[in-house]
Amino acid sequence: MRRVTCHQFGPPQGLVVEEAPDPHAGPGDVVVAVRAAGVSFVDGLIVAGGYQVKPPLPFTPGLTVAGDVVEIGDGVAGVAVGDRVAATSMALGGYASHRVLPAAALNLLPEGVAYDVAATAVESYGTMVFALTRRTTVTPGEWMLVLGAGGGIGLAAVDVGRSLGVRVIAAAAGEPKRAAALGAGAEVAIDYEAEDLKARVREITGGGADLVVDPVGDRYAEPALRTLRPFGRYLVVGFAGGSIPKLAANLVLLENRTVVGIDWGAWGRRDPGGNLALVDEVFAGIAAGRYRPPAPTVFPLEEAADALTLLAERRVTGKLVLKP
Ligand SMILES: NC(=O)c1ccc[n+]([C@@H]2O[C@H](COP(=O)([O-])OP(=O)(O)OC[C@H]3O[C@@H](n4cnc5c(N)ncnc54)[C@H](OP(=O)(O)O)[C@@H]3O)[C@@H](O)[C@H]2O)c1
Repeated sequence: MRRVTCHQFGPPQGLVVEEAPDPHAGPGDVVVAVRAAGVSFVDGLIVAGGYQVKPPLPFTPGLTVAGDVVEIGDGVAGVAVGDRVAATSMALGGYASHRVLPAAALNLLPEGVAYDVAATAVESYGTMVFALTRRTTVTPGEWMLVLGAGGGIGLAAVDVGRSLGVRVIAAAAGEPKRAAALGAGAEVAIDYEAEDLKARVREITGGGADLVVDPVGDRYAEPALRTLRPFGRYLVVGFAGGSIPKLAANLVLLENRTVVGIDWGAWGRRDPGGNLALVDEVFAGIAAGRYRPPAPTVFPLEEAADALTLLAERRVTGKLVLKP
């Protein structure tokens, strides 16, 4: 098998592609031949040693994969060789040609859900369906402001919001990202680097947004919080902008706002059965055309460092996958 290995924390250029013995399935496990491995912002943080959890070195990055079951271990039921599956095992190891996974951590891929879409939607749609149906709920016609709307989480937020009947305002830097967000169903796209977010959102909505989805944080957070109308909800999803913002408590008190933390990964580790059901819901929604994730951009496994660099440099619209 081939895999990408991180031997020391630092920039992605330090990653190496190496050969390793083919893995075999132990009791309860399966071997998956990886057809697509999702590349996410979090992977770059983990490789840099800048994530909450630092894995022991060396390790293979990558949290989400889709592929074919090629071997099953003793005691495995409900999964067969040849099944198309996707997994978020909430453990590392995805940037590889083969991966050993617990059979209990697999979702079967419905007809019509491609490997590359599955390998990325697990995380981006998993997070946003969790956010918009488990951590809060939305009412058709509500206004939702999405920051970083051309990124992985952002585009999923736009699409899931659209499917739930929410009216979406996309905020993103760069024309391609705004165009992608409009294509995913946003009604309006704002350049949040150049425009006054609060004034524009108030003008568009006639009073303020009902909810904000914020995967960016940093200097964008406070203006976004200020766009909320009374009883608005602010969903804290991530900090791709770099700094963790300190939200002023008076801005939460005013207008009876609510700040909602979203930690899909922690919830999935705590409730693996609930997460499998959620991911099944995501795949069923894609197969039925209810969700419309755009096809990710494909890189060969050997170019994992380039893919992570593009993400860190803010140059990616949508999602990336590695194909071994
Ligand atoms: N809470 C959860 O459960 C959960 C789950 C998955 C991911 N996350 C987090 O969500 C965040 C976004 O993930 P993602 O997959 O959407 O990432 P992504 O695809 O890289 O998108 C992030 C967006 O943030 C914006 N951005 C602003 N400043 C940036 C900077 N200095 N560097 C990079 N991007 C910057 C960019 O949009 P513009 O160029 O348009 O500004 C970019 O498109 C990450 O922090 C990730 O860890 C959280």
